[in-house]
Amino acid sequence: MSLKLDAEYWNNRYLENSHRWDIGYPSPAITNYFDKIEDKNSSILIPGCGSAYEGEYLIKNGFTNVTLLDVSEESKHLFLNRVPHFENFIVDDFFQLETKFDYIIEQTFFCALDPKLRIDYVTKMNQLLGENGKLVGLMFHADLYSDHPPFGGFKEEYLELFKPYFNQVKMIKTNDSIKERLGRELFIEVHQ
Ligand SMILES: C[S@@+](CC[C@H](N)C(=O)[O-])C[C@H]1O[C@@H](n2cnc3c(N)ncnc32)[C@H](O)[C@@H]1O
Repeated sequence: MSLKLDAEYWNNRYLENSHRWDIGYPSPAITNYFDKIEDKNSSILIPGCGSAYEGEYLIKNGFTNVTLLDVSEESKHLFLNRVPHFENFIVDDFFQLETKFDYIIEQTFFCALDPKLRIDYVTKMNQLLGENGKLVGLMFHADLYSDHPPFGGFKEEYLELFKPYFNQVKMIKTNDSIKERLGRELFIEVHQ
């Protein structure tokens, strides 16, 4: 793959308005999950959060410890235009992060990374999750692109990738997808 998927690449996608992954509202599969979480002080990371509608939803629904992270400064601008006073949007590379979290939310971040980084993604997630921490969210179960994001993949290969690092790996076809992605997504819940 010759594309360099760095901050400049992602900033340009936002600046050129070519961010078709951006659904414009919080993903129902993710909000339904967090509606059932009682501890509003749980620490929650959304890596590669983009416009972060799920982050906005969590903050507005009383979660007090939300960290948003994206390598693109432009995505931060988009978020702060909607939620101006939020102070915990970090512009940095996911792989540089060191803090531990109770929950990490996956939504079109895994598929945005060069597939060569998939093992690095799983090992980093393992490192960033606290003792009872969980990685939750959505992953494509579909053959997408091989020369640019979104990169596709299927449940079987994800299980092989995650199982050496986590004891509990649930990946279930979901009906909670937005209609454009229906039948092509898995809801995941991964933990030790
Ligand atoms: C396909 S977009 C998804 C954005 C958001 N999750 C959504 O669903 O709208 C992928 C996002 O990951 C960010 N990203 C890509 N590589 C990253 C990295 N190494 N560290 C942090 N963010 C990264 C991009 O800037 C982009 O905002």
